[in-house]
Amino acid sequence: MPRILSGIKPTGRLHLGNYLGMMRPAIAWQERGEALYFIADYHALTTVRDPAALREDSRRIALDFLACGLDSSKAVLFRQSDVPQVTELTWLLSCLTPMSLLEKCHAYKDHLANGRAPSHGLFAYPVLMAADILIYDSDVVPVGRDQKQHVEVTRDLAQKLNDAYGPLLTIPEPSILAEVETIPGLDGRKMSKSYGNTIGLFEDEKALRKKIMSIVTDSTPVEAPKTTDDSPIIGLYAHFASADDVERMRADFRAGGVGYGDFKKRLFEAVWEHFAPMRARRAEMEKDPAGIDGILAEGAARANELATATIRRVRAAMGIGAEIGPMSGRS
Ligand code: TRP
Repeated sequence: MPRILSGIKPTGRLHLGNYLGMMRPAIAWQERGEALYFIADYHALTTVRDPAALREDSRRIALDFLACGLDSSKAVLFRQSDVPQVTELTWLLSCLTPMSLLEKCHAYKDHLANGRAPSHGLFAYPVLMAADILIYDSDVVPVGRDQKQHVEVTRDLAQKLNDAYGPLLTIPEPSILAEVETIPGLDGRKMSKSYGNTIGLFEDEKALRKKIMSIVTDSTPVEAPKTTDDSPIIGLYAHFASADDVERMRADFRAGGVGYGDFKKRLFEAVWEHFAPMRARRAEMEKDPAGIDGILAEGAARANELATATIRRVRAAMGIGAEIGPMSGRS
């Protein structure tokens, strides 16, 4: 049974791009192996300076994930910082990490290119991510294309440790979530927080309607046929409506006689309806904060069990603390 691992940074609210690109496929993996998902609060500290916001965003992500179908009887949900062993593994890996490898990583390079002074944490970000992945003996890492480089660094570092100290770490495979690139935002560009073109997950009815009505369209008059190419309305609708309904929208675009406002209303209805059961579940769970804490505590216990086995093995192999016997198998 493969072990699947992914993390999400608690920096603000999740949007439909996160949901379609990462959450939904990640949740689907829970049927195929032991899935571990964590809230990457240590990683968020590279940018977040507001402790209350960090706590609140972390909690909201847990709630959102559970509402969207993460099943805590199948998958393991936990906070990264509930497994502080990961910072120790980060150090152990750091000692074998060439500076030149990290200098090539895009988050760091982008930071420099934007004229900002990167912190050591930002520079070391990929090593912490490698530790996240390796500490749980992960086999598969579902991530967006933008994180592929980090999984390659992870493989590289695992190999370096294995070459130096014998077989210690499982070499993970990335599973690239291709869809992520294709989810249009309000202005037709990829939906992304950095473009300010997102539609939030679990917005209230009024806000959602307003967002969807603000999708950028051209000035084709109501009567005229409209081009279906690159329409963000159709691009989004395709993820939430049935194939028949999507075909009907395309046909109405081509035929003319239906205005963009009308298409946006259809999109609103589809999105609102898609999330109806999740909204209900979320509202229920929100009333029971202790329930969420319990799930996160259970997740942390399982994650700790796995992490402790790995850290003991790696420490001993590297000459920290007492020697332990022949490598025991993975837990
Ligand atoms: N860096 C990832 C992101 O920004 C989040 C993350 C942290 C992660 N650790 C991870 C993803 C380990 C997968 C595996 O989205």
